Amino acid sequence: MAVTRTFSIIKPDATRRNLTGAVTKMLEDAGLRVVASKRIQMTREQAEGFYAVHKERPFFGELVDFMISGPVVVQVLEGEDAVKRNRDVMGATNPADADEGTIRKTYAESIEANSVHGSDSDENAKIEIDFFFDEDEIVG
Ligand code: RTP
Ligand code: MG
Repeated sequence: MAVTRTFSIIKPDATRRNLTGAVTKMLEDAGLRVVASKRIQMTREQAEGFYAVHKERPFFGELVDFMISGPVVVQVLEGEDAVKRNRDVMGATNPADADEGTIRKTYAESIEANSVHGSDSDENAKIEIDFFFDEDEIVG
């Protein structure tokens, strides 16, 4: 299995509850290495751009409001089959459907305030990493 990269966000519900370390530990324990990380306050323009694929969805406005409601931690994660490995440890979008031991089952507050984002394909991982990081900020 190839070592690949994925993109992660620790969302405002998790930073507000001081769970940055706890979430990162679960990512690391799942075999992912944090090769870039920064805490940022997203602007509305950044959040709208990042979630542009969802702009026709009924929850788009609320999602953008939520993602700018506090700081987030954006990360690049590296590991074997990183996209799937991260999605597995994240758990289902709705914490009510998430498996035991996943980040969302453990920490998410709701389907929207669900603590983490993770890329859903290698192609989107590259786009999302490039959205927030310069290559020289990624050190593995
Ligand atoms: P993410 O992109 O954040 O990793 O989550 P995901 O793939 O599991 O879910 P996605 O369908 O891409 O939705 C993106 C984010 O939008 C919020 N959401 N709210 N109110 C709702 O029905 C609803 N559905 C989705 C969540 O924050 C979700 O993670
Ligand atoms: Mg998604």
